[in-house]
Amino acid sequence: MIVPIELSQTQNITYDITIDSLPKLAFDRKVVIVTNPTVAGLHLKTLLTHIKATQLHVVTIPDGEKYKTLETVENILNECFEHKLDRKSLLIAFGGGVIGDMTGFTASLYQRGIDFVQIPTTLLSQVDASVGGKTGVNNKYGKNLIGAFYQPKAVYIDPEFLKTLPAREFAAGVAEIVKMAVMFDKSYFEFLQDADLSNEEVLKEAIRKSVELKAWVVNQDEKEAGIRAVLNYGHTFGHVVENETNYTTYLHGEAVAIGMVMANALAVELDLFTQEEARKVKDLLERSSLPTEYVIKDVDDFYEHFFLDKKSANNSIKFILPNGMGKHKMLNDIDENIVKKVLSQFGEQQ
Ligand SMILES: NC(=O)c1ccc[n+]([C@@H]2O[C@H](COP(=O)([O-])OP(=O)(O)OC[C@H]3O[C@@H](n4cnc5c(N)ncnc54)[C@H](O)[C@@H]3O)[C@@H](O)[C@H]2O)c1
Repeated sequence: MIVPIELSQTQNITYDITIDSLPKLAFDRKVVIVTNPTVAGLHLKTLLTHIKATQLHVVTIPDGEKYKTLETVENILNECFEHKLDRKSLLIAFGGGVIGDMTGFTASLYQRGIDFVQIPTTLLSQVDASVGGKTGVNNKYGKNLIGAFYQPKAVYIDPEFLKTLPAREFAAGVAEIVKMAVMFDKSYFEFLQDADLSNEEVLKEAIRKSVELKAWVVNQDEKEAGIRAVLNYGHTFGHVVENETNYTTYLHGEAVAIGMVMANALAVELDLFTQEEARKVKDLLERSSLPTEYVIKDVDDFYEHFFLDKKSANNSIKFILPNGMGKHKMLNDIDENIVKKVLSQFGEQQ
């Protein structure tokens, strides 16, 4: 199954996202695989049996979001120079979203840009991060604040790699799947309500549908000037939850699950979403082993945190809310008192 990306609106770029068993890949050029010890330990041997190249090198970087930095990118660049890569060489990102974002960014920088390919190995990276060409790193001012829109030459999604993924990481990926369904496709949401994602065929179908939806969004708006921002549903609230808990309590997808529950409560308050619809989303998240409860200790503090988010343009907060199941609405000007009233539903006294 192949999903095409066609960025004809902004530039003439097309590439394929293949969702299937990893094919044999032969490259008539130097290739560097970027991975981490966790993924390498589990899957590098398999990957190496699938890849042929003029020269093949593996660069291993430490595992973890805290290493998603310019320093690590510089280390990868140094390895590329050590291996004397040229402008025709290729990088392969082999790992989750952290590896994908950093490898893509490195590829955009090396000699002003060389090709790269994504082979994502987490559910989150298969359904979301590997699709659409956002690359980058974190710094002390926030997450993903340094980076580039830089598209891969191809993405190979093999669900087989997910068999070794820890359950919590798997669930974090499901949060992004639910996000796509609630924002864009009611029938997909209904499919997910009955879906057993431990079944390989069902999982593959869910990945396919999510990738198709994300590709459809990216094809319309590569640089997030409009509809791509809808993918931030749950993230405005989720980022505050992550920040308040020092990025240690929740995985990103878990915080997004809580964020979606909060966004839904706001949508209910504004009559955009029914209580029943909000309950269905919460039920699906809970059935997917995702957290849906969070106690806001100080509503004013929580509200102020919204303004630290890079997506809060011109000091107004952009809320992405469901507008009925499978539809969305972006609102910039929700009255502070209404937002705080909804936040207080999650307050300590509840
Ligand atoms: N570029 C985008 O559009 C986009 C979208 C969403 C998220 N992201 C980024 O993605 C990152 C999160 O990605 P993630 O959730 O994949 O996290 P991750 O890359 O940190 O992977 C999570 C953990 O799973 C391990 N792992 C990876 N594959 C495995 C496998 N097959 N079996 C066992 N363990 C495996 C990793 O080593 C890591 O410890 C964040 O940095 C986020 O900013 C980017």
